[in-house]
Amino acid sequence: MRLIEFLVVRLFNCVKMLQAPAAERNKNPILSILRKVLPPDVQLNGLEIASGTGQHVTWFASNLPNIIWQPTEYDQSSLASIRAYRESNDEIKSRVKPPELVDVTKPLDLWPQQVAKLSHYDFILNVNMIHISPYECTIGLFRSGQQLIKENGLIILYGPFSIDGILTPESNVNFDQSLRARDSSWGVRDTRDVGSTAHQFGFRFVQIYDMPANNKILIYRKSSP
Ligand SMILES: C[S@@+](CC[C@H](N)C(=O)[O-])C[C@H]1O[C@@H](n2cnc3c(N)ncnc32)[C@H](O)[C@@H]1O
Repeated sequence: MRLIEFLVVRLFNCVKMLQAPAAERNKNPILSILRKVLPPDVQLNGLEIASGTGQHVTWFASNLPNIIWQPTEYDQSSLASIRAYRESNDEIKSRVKPPELVDVTKPLDLWPQQVAKLSHYDFILNVNMIHISPYECTIGLFRSGQQLIKENGLIILYGPFSIDGILTPESNVNFDQSLRARDSSWGVRDTRDVGSTAHQFGFRFVQIYDMPANNKILIYRKSSP
């Protein structure tokens, strides 16, 4: 490709690369937990549900060279941004597959074949989705995870949570109310409800991490009874 073409392609890509301020703020705190819970020395397959702009998946790919990522999105209009981040760097492109449209509430036979690979993934990462979507999305995450994740693989959830029925601090209570006012099927989820859904689909709770801005990371492991 001639230099001028190369620069024009780069420029168009930059225009498509959306910036979510929250993703920019939380990408390093999340990366530090991924470094703790994922082994650095074996090749891993990671699936991201709800990749948003693509900022997260490409940041993690550039920092965790042993992982091949499959990004997905429900909102078709975000796919161009994920593609643009992916194509911004050859190293990232080699570790991040092209993004695919996925509605996590749908049965796996309606997912793209490139994504719906049984017992293929070492983990699923899902950031800031389950409180901004109906609870069917949380159910869909664990239901599909049961089939897509290898034995002992992980589901890694990031977001605000209430712990055993208690939501703190006041800012999270207000956030929960504002979510429910926008859409009555949304809302901050409770660890007991998520834990019971996880258990229903063969996952057991492993660990909770406190994160900045009153968020948490919850880790569940797929394990046979
Ligand atoms: C607040 S955004 C978070 C995006 C990204 N993970 C981040 O942290 O920047 C919520 C995400 O949930 C996704 N979502 C909503 N309903 C969904 C569904 N049924 N299946 C999959 N993703 C869904 C949206 O498309 C959006 O990407």
